[in-house]
Amino acid sequence: MTAVNLQDQIPNNVDLGGNRALQRALEHWQPRFLEWWQELGPAGFQAADVYLRTATSVDAKGWATYGTVKMPDYRWGILLADRTPDRKIGFGDHFGEDVWQEVPGEHRAALRNLIVTQGDTEPASVEQQRLLGRTCPSLYDLRNLFQVNVEEARHLWAMVYLLHAYFGRDGREEAEELLHRHSGDPNNPRILATFNEPVRDWLSFYMFTYFTDRDGKYQLKCLAESAFDPLARSTRFMLTEEAHHMFVGDSGISRVIRRAMEMMKELGTDDPQLLRQHGVVDLPLVQRYVNYWFTSSVDLFGSEASSNAASYFANGLKGRPDEPTFEDHVCKDTTYALELPDGKGGITTTEVPMRNAINEIVRQSYVKDCAVGVSRWNRVIKKAGVDFEITLPNRRFRRNIGAWAGVPTDPRGTPISADEFAARKDEWLPSESDRAYVLSLMQQVTEPGKIAGWIAPPERGINSLPVDYEYVKLH
Ligand SMILES: [Fe+2]
Ligand SMILES: [Fe+2]
Repeated sequence: MTAVNLQDQIPNNVDLGGNRALQRALEHWQPRFLEWWQELGPAGFQAADVYLRTATSVDAKGWATYGTVKMPDYRWGILLADRTPDRKIGFGDHFGEDVWQEVPGEHRAALRNLIVTQGDTEPASVEQQRLLGRTCPSLYDLRNLFQVNVEEARHLWAMVYLLHAYFGRDGREEAEELLHRHSGDPNNPRILATFNEPVRDWLSFYMFTYFTDRDGKYQLKCLAESAFDPLARSTRFMLTEEAHHMFVGDSGISRVIRRAMEMMKELGTDDPQLLRQHGVVDLPLVQRYVNYWFTSSVDLFGSEASSNAASYFANGLKGRPDEPTFEDHVCKDTTYALELPDGKGGITTTEVPMRNAINEIVRQSYVKDCAVGVSRWNRVIKKAGVDFEITLPNRRFRRNIGAWAGVPTDPRGTPISADEFAARKDEWLPSESDRAYVLSLMQQVTEPGKIAGWIAPPERGINSLPVDYEYVKLH
């Protein structure tokens, strides 16, 4: 196993001390990163003591250390999963050849773009979530928010390390840009649309961590197959941290639903207006938030047919999630049936070369994975004896990217007229009044063990600590 140096100014397991030029360059970037964190990281809590886990090893059995830390003092490290000896390229034209320890010149620009795009999402999400501390429903949730935030910042470090170590001058410039683009900045926005959408309330935060962090999981899974071994190792370790982010979303939504169930039972009604008078989130409202964040995240996989995706695959830069589980890793003479709009208000099936359909193939795996939590939430509803089912909309619904962009459909994916879509929009997507209602629920609760009225308490605390532990000490 690679030794982790925790004493260095930048903790790492990449022998940073053995490369003085690289070490200096990253130590030069570090204060700028900290400035960014102070300015655009969690607002109002930089002096608080937070119970956080820190990645301090890449050992599958114990890779994190828990302790109380002020966020600006968090030890953001550069940690790559251990090298797999004799690892071979797992897909594309170079299938079976040795993986690369350096960047091949002909793939330099494409690899840099992939790393920059991934890297850009990490600080973006911290920026999107920066004001949420002001309205946290409990100290437990506040701590989870900060855990997600510091780890997204570590993921930024992971990508910045690759840019500095393997891409020379333009890599260093790109690393600077990652701190200059800002979520929602009209002049210099983040690269992908979803990462410019504000996350103003905690229901959106749970949806984001469930749906959008899961997009992250799938992007990382694809990059973890890359022929560029340092990228594969870096993303493999990032996936270890990612699981908790999705847990925050999954369990958060579950708790919102549990609380709604309690109130429905107490009042003996499922009338949204009545439930809102009692300060809980009605299920149709949960459904509309699901529709919104799911569709926004589904767009992140890109166009159904994509020549970029095809060349990333052909060249071994970005594979499919769990590539070893596929039978054919070359996909040269095979096709995939894409469902596309027929231009006359219907759906048509078109065969495209398999490699061109990679985005859609990855999206399908993502949609399946999303459905797992949804069925868990539905079990909570069913157990309470309530007749309501949360569903994922069809992936054709409300698309802004790809063949279905701007094609109006209902949530089942059936094409409809623009007029019908406009007329029924508020039935399917959060309306102004839905959003205003959710915002009205957002009141900060910071007394240990106390919880806001719109959400049920968690089933257990962090790292075997009790639920009412003081996870964040405010000063
Ligand atoms: Fe991340
Ligand atoms: Fe994440």
